Amino acid sequence: MHIMRLQCKVALISGGASGMGRATADTFAREGATVVVADINDSDGASAVKEIHAAGGQAHYVHLDVTDENAWTAAIDEVLDLFGRLDVLVNNAGISGTFDPDLTSTGFFDQLMLVNAKSVFLGIKHGAAAMIRSGGGSIVNLSSISATIGQPGVHMGYGASKAAVKSMTTTASVHHAEHGIRVNAVAPGMLPPMRTSRGSADPVWRAKQIDGVPMKRSGEVQEVADVVLFLASDESSYVTGIEILVDGGLTSV
Ligand SMILES: NC(=O)c1ccc[n+]([C@@H]2O[C@H](COP(=O)([O-])OP(=O)(O)OC[C@H]3O[C@@H](n4cnc5c(N)ncnc54)[C@H](O)[C@@H]3O)[C@@H](O)[C@H]2O)c1
Repeated sequence: MHIMRLQCKVALISGGASGMGRATADTFAREGATVVVADINDSDGASAVKEIHAAGGQAHYVHLDVTDENAWTAAIDEVLDLFGRLDVLVNNAGISGTFDPDLTSTGFFDQLMLVNAKSVFLGIKHGAAAMIRSGGGSIVNLSSISATIGQPGVHMGYGASKAAVKSMTTTASVHHAEHGIRVNAVAPGMLPPMRTSRGSADPVWRAKQIDGVPMKRSGEVQEVADVVLFLASDESSYVTGIEILVDGGLTSV
């Protein structure tokens, strides 16, 4: 008999309408969680939920702009009203560092820090408060290899935002250990392009980067979702404050 790894847990996934967030939503639902897909892309969010329902899982969509603190309060309140608890939060929503080709754009720096970093602060702040009421939980943040290494064409604000995510993971793990909340990060490497990828969606750029990956291939979204699942589940019950690289060895070269 298959023992579901997230049975009875309620999980909110920001950016759950697309890419790795969507793969994570599907995976969590298959493992018995009630999944809350939170995104600004309402139509794709609704179809993600529809697919989970069709596969026999439990899911709900909330519109959440992760940069808006009032929206976080409203989304978490909705989850508590509907399901009574929050056990898992995946801070996955983000934008690419290659959307604006101007690597010196100050406006883009601010936007990257807002959408990729401040969002995670807000998620931890409001998510942890709900988890304390639920008796504990697990927070998983999506950082990136860009927190550690530089890549041509990627705005330095992207790396800075992801380094902030890595740092907040460490700090929040210390703050919330006493509340039974674990906080970890997953750092993907070369995965399929983000919706907002421009330079990093270019096949020539991608081929060059993938050539530098010891495993000589791109990762698959499921390979990230499976690591997020491990950190979300009780199998990682003594793991907190860490970042797991899912990069085919790219940062080990
Ligand atoms: N794809 C990669 O190569 C890669 C590599 C390393 C890290 N990451 C990180 O992984 C995470 C997921 O990336 P992905 O490839 O699945 O991207 P994606 O573009 O496919 O999905 C991102 C999702 O976030 C949502 N989103 C964007 N801004 C939002 C906002 N303000 N509020 C709420 N939702 C918002 C989008 O609507 C989308 O559904 C991101 O944090 C990204 O930075 C991606």
